Amino acid sequence: MSSNSLRFEPLTPIIGAEVHGIDLGEPMADPAFDGLHEGWMKHQVLFFRDQPLDIEQLKAFGRRFGELHLHPMGDIEGHPGVLAIYADANSTTFAGRNWHSDVSCDELPPAASILHLHQVPDVGGDTIFGNMYAAFDALSPAFAAFLDGLEACHSGRQRFAGYFGASEEDSRDGKFPEAVHPVVRSHPVTGRKALYVNPVFTSHIVGIEPEESRALLEFLYRHIALPDFQCRFRWRENSVAMWDNRCVVHAAIPDYLPQTRSGYRVTVVGERPA
Ligand code: SIN
Repeated sequence: MSSNSLRFEPLTPIIGAEVHGIDLGEPMADPAFDGLHEGWMKHQVLFFRDQPLDIEQLKAFGRRFGELHLHPMGDIEGHPGVLAIYADANSTTFAGRNWHSDVSCDELPPAASILHLHQVPDVGGDTIFGNMYAAFDALSPAFAAFLDGLEACHSGRQRFAGYFGASEEDSRDGKFPEAVHPVVRSHPVTGRKALYVNPVFTSHIVGIEPEESRALLEFLYRHIALPDFQCRFRWRENSVAMWDNRCVVHAAIPDYLPQTRSGYRVTVVGERPA
């Protein structure tokens, strides 16, 4: 595959593109990787159809972008760095539910997330993605400048115990991760500023009163979820989505029970948000 065969078909002018002319199961030469990376930086989320990958191929594709990130609640047996995304008629909790940036409670949260679904419902189970550059750019300059100086705490406990009911002893390090990150982060590649708070992991804004933090986060959670910044992906069997957690939030929609939705996700270690 050469970089010349790559074609990006935008889903919206704001975020998301479907990529044509690539087989993710094949090794990728540098020019093709560079072309793909450039398109990813431009569109923030890329979608690929008809990619019947096995776990090793998915890992190899992820490793092309960096070291695989180990999820704090563990990976699937024998495959460090691979997370099972699975729900069926008996499920009461759903990975990816509600707006978030993956594992933002880690000191070094993932840059890329790459999700391959091999079983999908006939209809439903879409994932929505929001462009956090656009969310930041839409704020008035004075408010944006105020946010730019703030930091927020991101708590693994809020998600893993609060939603999934997991116990701390079951986590990889015996304790839920927690980290303080800037509310506005600069993307290490594009240099653009993006909002970096989400209702799944962000517990509070640091250094202000709890009431003020609650009111501010309430506004920001409404703001990041505005349809203006979004695209919505309808999965098919063997589709792949690859998003940039440094500038994107996403939410999986659990509207498909009693059908099954199943796949594997790899994430790639990112930088300390700055
Ligand atoms: C996730 O948050 O990684 C899961 C997304 C999805 O299942 O669509």
